[in-house]
Amino acid sequence: MKKALVCGAGGFIGGHLVNRLKSEGYWVRGVDLKYNEYGNGNADDFVIGDLTDPVVCKNVSEGGFDEVYQLAADMGGAGYIFTGENDAAVMHNSALCNLHMLHAAQQAGVKKIFYSSSACMYPEYNQLDPENPKCSEESAYPAAPDSEYGWEKLFSERLYLTYQRNLGITVKVARFHNIFGPQGTWKGGKEKAPAAICRKVIEAEDGGTIEIWGDGKQTRSFLYVDECVEGVRRLMESDFSGPVNIGSEEMISINDFAKMIAEISGKKIIIKNISGPEGVRGRNSDNALIQEKLGWAPSQSLKEGITKTYQWISEQANKEVAELV
Ligand code: NAD
Ligand code: GDD
Repeated sequence: MKKALVCGAGGFIGGHLVNRLKSEGYWVRGVDLKYNEYGNGNADDFVIGDLTDPVVCKNVSEGGFDEVYQLAADMGGAGYIFTGENDAAVMHNSALCNLHMLHAAQQAGVKKIFYSSSACMYPEYNQLDPENPKCSEESAYPAAPDSEYGWEKLFSERLYLTYQRNLGITVKVARFHNIFGPQGTWKGGKEKAPAAICRKVIEAEDGGTIEIWGDGKQTRSFLYVDECVEGVRRLMESDFSGPVNIGSEEMISINDFAKMIAEISGKKIIIKNISGPEGVRGRNSDNALIQEKLGWAPSQSLKEGITKTYQWISEQANKEVAELV
């Protein structure tokens, strides 16, 4: 039986990844600062621990793991990473998790380690035109990410690749493009646009107004979490290290996305564009490299994924209301 360690297993993607690995027959240890708040991710063993501490990293790495998946990071949507207020925490926490976890895994003799980088590492200068952003893997340099979160991701990508070059551990690096789905953060300040807009629409009356940050013409693509996990597993099983985009190529403006969610709700919704943290003007995954190297790329439509997500957030919101009564 293969053994995997999932760092950040109490989080959104980590919880889904644990389930996927279990369904493939792995023995899985999860580690995180917290348990998954929606009960997602049924690991065989779950350690509550802080991965900025090298002793914790050493302890959780022991036990003969074949694979480590390093997803632990201080992260959130535009309301968390683009305000500037969390920059020190993001860089300090995430860089320490990566430095100590990678070292501990290599020292413990782990054969393969996965690292979750982000599309936020791409240079801002290629993402100024909302209709024509460039995010092909080779366009990463000269580096100019628009957030400290992106700079930390870029540093850590390079860190992992040095361990592969110098110390023999096999490394896999993926650049995720805005992953969404059930069991993701949907309130509290760290939520990304898909969950935030679903929540706003759910909370609005029929005929009501929702606030959307920016002019709404900024573009993004969003990838459903099951396809993200599929991409991660395919990358792990391949002989390609990356860095490679794991994202959707279905680009949409944020206002059109809000209209799509309003349509799913069946309500008439008025969009009010207000100032707020925006990030880059345009972003879209470029899937040429993943298609070439893995013979696969995500294909599920945004509408399909966001419909399932809307339903799940609706249930969560209803549960909260019921608890208040
Ligand atoms: P998440 O916030 O739900 O999960 C991250 C988990 O890491 C959290 O449960 C958190 O408690 C844990 N963590 C943070 N600091 C820790 C520490 N010091 N010790 C132990 N655990 C710690 O985020 P997610 O959406 O599941 O993202 C997973 C990974 O993918 C992250 O590295 C993130 O940067 C990356 N990523 C995500 C997206 C996305 O759209 N969700 C996009 C690009 C990259
Ligand atoms: N979060 C959020 N909440 N965003 C909103 C809202 C809202 O209520 N209204 C409009 N937006 C706009 C933001 O201003 C931004 O321009 C766009 O929707 C997308 O915001 P997010 O989904 O929060 O983040 P992002 O796409 O800029 O960055 C995310 O994806 C990266 C990978 O592609 C973040 O999750 C990063 O952490 C991640 O690495």
